[in-house]
Amino acid sequence: MKKNRLAILAVILVAAIVGGYTFFGQDSANSVEVTVPTLTPAGARGEAAFGTYCADCHGTKAQGTEKGPPLIHKLYHPGHHGDAAIASAVLNGARGHHWPYGDMKPVEGITQAEIPDIIAFIREVQYANKIY
Ligand code: HEC
Repeated sequence: MKKNRLAILAVILVAAIVGGYTFFGQDSANSVEVTVPTLTPAGARGEAAFGTYCADCHGTKAQGTEKGPPLIHKLYHPGHHGDAAIASAVLNGARGHHWPYGDMKPVEGITQAEIPDIIAFIREVQYANKIY
């Protein structure tokens, strides 16, 4: 009888830990607080393009969502993750490695001309949030 109760308790405990991880750990805890500064014209164009092509996964402020990581994050500061690496992720996709989201596919429909604006947007927001 006592053993049974212990087993039930153990099952509940494991379920709570797994459930808690799925709910808090994976889905929401990776997104970050982001302040968007006054943007340059290029940054503002980039913000619009980011909203069209990237926000679904990375969030409108690049703060991260349940589908993709925050880009306003020290992992992606300009010294560690240069502009060419951002352009490459957009054009060629990126293999998931830092986060539990899996791979990023190449972004469809985007034009070459939009990429520098998107980079400007990401860098301006990074700078305003002390990622430099
Ligand atoms: C369908 C979801 C999705 C969309 C849309 C998307 N991304 Fe991603 N992005 C991801 C995922 C997932 C990763 C992989 C994270 C990891 O390293 O585990 C990623 C990674 C990245 C990285 C880091 C790549 C590296 O080398 O580590 C950059 C930069 C990036 N995305 C920029 C963008 C930009 C800019 C856009 C829009 C033009 C965009 N992403 C659109 C899901 C997405």
